[in-house]
Amino acid sequence: MKRALVIVMALAFVVGFTGQAAAGDGAALWGSKKCKNCHNLSAKKKVGPGLAGVTGKRSEEWLVKWLTDTKGTWKDGSAETEQMKKDIGKEKQKRPKMKAPKMTEQDAKDIIAYMKANGG
Ligand code: HEC
Repeated sequence: MKRALVIVMALAFVVGFTGQAAAGDGAALWGSKKCKNCHNLSAKKKVGPGLAGVTGKRSEEWLVKWLTDTKGTWKDGSAETEQMKKDIGKEKQKRPKMKAPKMTEQDAKDIIAYMKANGG
């Protein structure tokens, strides 16, 4: 009886653990997609601007576009892109300096959720 209980508990632990990892690992992507190399989730500038509150400032749609197609977004002429350039003082810059590894829309969404949950 005792043994069966131990096995059930071990199984519950494994299932709970893998279940967590499967739910979009924004924290891991934050590192593997190099966001961490260039950004803080505070107001403090690193290579790129500090991203404190960025998910409140920009729409999710714009953030997904920016993360999956940074170059294209830079020159899309949209109000949101122009506002971003203004906010970070880059209205005159021709091309984005940001270079993140390629990612899927789902990766972008997972990273956005991670930023949102951590002050970004
Ligand atoms: C090589 C450095 C670098 C990497 C890597 C990088 N960024 Fe950036 N990021 C920048 C720079 C620089 C800017 C400012 C715009 C520009 O010049 O490209 C920026 C701008 C941004 C903005 C717009 C800020 C605003 O006020 O709206 C967001 C959001 C952002 N980055 C998120 C990310 C995320 C998330 C990742 C990881 C997937 C990432 N960045 C990877 C350098 C980087």
